[in-house]
Amino acid sequence: MKRILTGLQPSGELTIGSLIGGIGNIKKYEDKYESFIFVPDLHSITVDQDPKLLHERIRKNIALYLACGLDPKKNTFYIQSENLYHTNLSWILECNTYMGEASRMTQYKEKSENKKHHSVGLFTYPILMAADILLYDADFVPVGHDQKQHVELARDIAIRFNNKYDDTFTVPEPLIPEVGARIKDLQDPTKKMSKSSENPKGIIFLLDDLEVTRKKIMSAVTDSDNKVIYDEENKPGISNLLMIYSSMTNMSIKEAEEKFKDYNYGNFKKEVAEAIINVIKPIQDKYNEIINSNLIDELLDEGKKKTNEIAKEKYEIVRKKVGLGR
Ligand code: AMP
Ligand code: TRP
Repeated sequence: MKRILTGLQPSGELTIGSLIGGIGNIKKYEDKYESFIFVPDLHSITVDQDPKLLHERIRKNIALYLACGLDPKKNTFYIQSENLYHTNLSWILECNTYMGEASRMTQYKEKSENKKHHSVGLFTYPILMAADILLYDADFVPVGHDQKQHVELARDIAIRFNNKYDDTFTVPEPLIPEVGARIKDLQDPTKKMSKSSENPKGIIFLLDDLEVTRKKIMSAVTDSDNKVIYDEENKPGISNLLMIYSSMTNMSIKEAEEKFKDYNYGNFKKEVAEAIINVIKPIQDKYNEIINSNLIDELLDEGKKKTNEIAKEKYEIVRKKVGLGR
């Protein structure tokens, strides 16, 4: 069975966008591939983090993935910082990566731009990511479009290493979802609904209070012609609500337009809110059931043990090839 591996940063609260675009996609793969899912907490500290919040989010994120339906029997869950081989391998890979290559990473350029200071870790971030992937010989790496360049760097590093030291690493491939639903911000429907936006009114978090969810939908930005029609260009707000409705109910946009053709915006929004609540209420119930249970620690302990064994074996091969140690 081929192996997939992905990391999901604990840097914010998950949104309905993460459900539709991120977790939903991984769920599709769990029967087809051996699946490794980890929390890249070491990547999160490349930018400033509140230690207490970071600590809480690691656990919370795992609980949410489970609550969203990822099967603990079909996926291996673990935490990056609980496996020292990631950073050890990362160092060796850093010594096999060129400054020029690393300097071309667009995410680094964006994140460091206009900052008074930024960390060295922000620069070496993609090389740690290569180590995350290569340590486990992952065949496929499901990521969003913004991470594609990083997976390509991991490929380049793997190929170079294999040429220099003989075949050592599987060369991974990014697995990028075909352009699916893109959920936009409720207050500014020209931009993506992102867990890191400043204005929480535009974002539906998976753990939002249900009444708050309703209020956010009722106050979503629309237009004044009171027709529920999908037209991204002229009616971005209504189009986004239709997209959300369609994603939550699996109804096509066309069918949704037909259903709502005689609705005013107020009544339409009520239905959109209900559709979201129908999806997130069971997620929240499940989340509350497991967040304080032993399940999460049991899974993470199991994941830690299993992945440390795999990683150790790979690391020992690499170490010897490079000539390190005894
Ligand atoms: P993020 O939560 O931004 O780290 O993204 C995690 C995954 O969820 C990525 O694969 C994104 O493509 C997807 N995702 C995040 N936000 C949205 C959104 N608003 N609409 C659709 N997919 C999203
Ligand atoms: N950099 C990724 C992101 O921000 C997270 C990540 C870290 C990752 N290591 C990885 C994703 C390895 C896939 C494989 O989304």
